[in-house]
Amino acid sequence: MKSKYINFIQDKNYEKLKAPAEAIKQGKLVLFPTETVYGIGADALNEEAVKKIYIAKGRASDNPLIVHIAKMEMLDRLVENVGNIEKILIKKFWPGPLTIVFKKKKIIPNIITGGLDTVAIRMPSNLVARKLIEYSNCPIAAPSANISGKPSGTIVEDIIDELDGKVEYVIDGGKVDIGVESTVIRVVNGIVHILRPGKITPEDIEKLNIPVHIEKQILGSYKEGEKVMSPGIKYKHYAPNTKCILVYSKENDKMVEKINSLAQNKKTVILCTSKNIEKYNSEIKLDMGQTLEEISQNIFTLLRKADKYKADLILIEGVEKTGLGLAIMNRLIRASAHEFIEI
Ligand code: TXA
Ligand code: MG
Repeated sequence: MKSKYINFIQDKNYEKLKAPAEAIKQGKLVLFPTETVYGIGADALNEEAVKKIYIAKGRASDNPLIVHIAKMEMLDRLVENVGNIEKILIKKFWPGPLTIVFKKKKIIPNIITGGLDTVAIRMPSNLVARKLIEYSNCPIAAPSANISGKPSGTIVEDIIDELDGKVEYVIDGGKVDIGVESTVIRVVNGIVHILRPGKITPEDIEKLNIPVHIEKQILGSYKEGEKVMSPGIKYKHYAPNTKCILVYSKENDKMVEKINSLAQNKKTVILCTSKNIEKYNSEIKLDMGQTLEEISQNIFTLLRKADKYKADLILIEGVEKTGLGLAIMNRLIRASAHEFIEI
């Protein structure tokens, strides 16, 4: 059966969210927008409902989910202790694209945390997401809306084919604001460990005089059996079916030259910044935008689009790995299965 579709783009009537909120209460799944990417939500305290998320996504059971809340009272019900650094981060960045890992209370089912004794929590700023949580009156577990391994959904059109019928409701809020998933952090001995980079950058956190450590696997590769702070690091992600190569140089001309040379004699799709688009000889070129904000909004949808050409190769321009660029490069390095040429 097809999912019920709610258009929240033109008519922003929050009353329309009451039916999907009711569905959440009844243990069903709802696809909904957040400020980062779309999520597939279920009542976080209902084990059977959460199971359906793993099935819908084809997700590994040891890869834990993020629990979304709308009010601070909800946090106290779910986690053991909120430390001082976490309090500072919450005050500064919630509601917003920051996920914090806490020691969990028993009320959180093990299926959410993949058996870990911690739980990842975030308070989204997107109003549809918040109202959905408020109306359903329960914390909502939600991974990014995509089949496991594929790029996350930033517009409903990209994911409707793979998820239609697997959720009770699809709430279409149009294109999301940020386009990459939330920053995931955990505080250990007074240091903020970045487990997944996002819109809230290491620099944003350092500005609060809090020391930051970036987990090395964020830009490097995961080796079988290696200990990781976040299970998500182990899995293939964001990958189109077509082979991708990521190229970056601080010197723009060198980067363009390298991409042009790799594109020779092949059917190639090039994902590039607006300023360079005229410099490539390839027939198919997709414009990522120019600012880091534009690029982050566009990358997932362009990776999916690039795949549709059934080309021999997708070549992608990299960006500098600072600020939001760190999150962009983390996604692109994984999309290209670590085929990353830096010159
Ligand atoms: O922006 C986002 O965070 C989106 C929207 C829908 O809110 N959600 C999202 O969820 O990206 P997902 O499931 O695709 O990614 C969750 C990430 C995974 O990398 C997972 O390993 C990590 O968070 N994670 C979840 N719980 C954790 C925990 N207890 N300890 C360490 N990492 C955890
Ligand atoms: Mg995901």
